[in-house]
Amino acid sequence: PEVAQRHGQEAGPLVIGHRGASGYRPEHTLASYELAARMGADYIEPDLVSTKDGVLVARHEPEIGGTTDVAEHPEFASRKTTRDLDGVRVTGWFTDDFTLAELKTLRATERIPDLRQENTIHNGRYEVPTLQEVIDLKNRLSRELGRDIGIYPETKHPTYFQRLGLALEPKLVQALNRNGLNTPKAKVFVQSFEVANLKQLHRELRVPLVQLTSASGRPYDFTAAGDPRTYADIVSARGLKEVATYAAGVGPDKNQVITRDAAGNLAAPTALVADAHAAGLKVHPYTFRAENSFLPKDLRSDAVAADYGDLFGELRAFW
Ligand code: G3P
Ligand code: CA
Repeated sequence: PEVAQRHGQEAGPLVIGHRGASGYRPEHTLASYELAARMGADYIEPDLVSTKDGVLVARHEPEIGGTTDVAEHPEFASRKTTRDLDGVRVTGWFTDDFTLAELKTLRATERIPDLRQENTIHNGRYEVPTLQEVIDLKNRLSRELGRDIGIYPETKHPTYFQRLGLALEPKLVQALNRNGLNTPKAKVFVQSFEVANLKQLHRELRVPLVQLTSASGRPYDFTAAGDPRTYADIVSARGLKEVATYAAGVGPDKNQVITRDAAGNLAAPTALVADAHAAGLKVHPYTFRAENSFLPKDLRSDAVAADYGDLFGELRAFW
């Protein structure tokens, strides 16, 4: 109640289990999402890409060489390819070259084994889940834990998939409809880095949307129309007012909401948080990890995306 009072909202800040409890289990596996929920996350966060046969699955990007054991499957050796992914040449194996049945023969692996060596004991154990399996898990855990576990899907490289005839948006809308989740009452946020994609979803979804922004200078619009603005424009006071016409919140990189002191420690919040709140937007920054969980007390964000489940409580207590 005290926290709610401070924020002028019913509950908060929300904790988003980023890619599940990805500090402890290979990201985007049912095991990772389940651990996040059991550790107290309010939401689990699947990134979504498409298979060749048009099924939404949870992966951070279409290329799966770094997060599955695909390289150990000789039958898929010839699928290794180099292609343009939003202006970047990427070599590897792409989900859009695999049917769901083929993808299901692979097993997830730890993305950053050098940093998270202990997690590699889980390599080879878990499948790549479909969005439907993530929703089923969330429903089962909600019943078991006696609280509604939310879901916070992100569409990854939506224009790339649209060009392949594997658009993510209609499949996501169908899945939310089919599961009774396309309603403002459902515990759902949908997020994307791509503005045009999010605006399209705004026309079809009744759940709150979150405009992700990046601290890097990377482009965010890959459609033919091409939006000349940068992320810096989007997080300006004026840009945020425009975001508020189609989204309920903004999901900035943590480096866009906090400054660092001379020693590199996180210090004061930037103007973004106050500007976003003035525009009526929630602020859900990403990603808080073991090494940077010490947040400025006056950050005033409405949620955090975090990799480590056991830091969630600590993060909450800090507000
Ligand atoms: O919650 C926001 C966050 O998921 C966006 O970054 O790259 O981890 O998907 P990323
Ligand atoms: Ca994400």
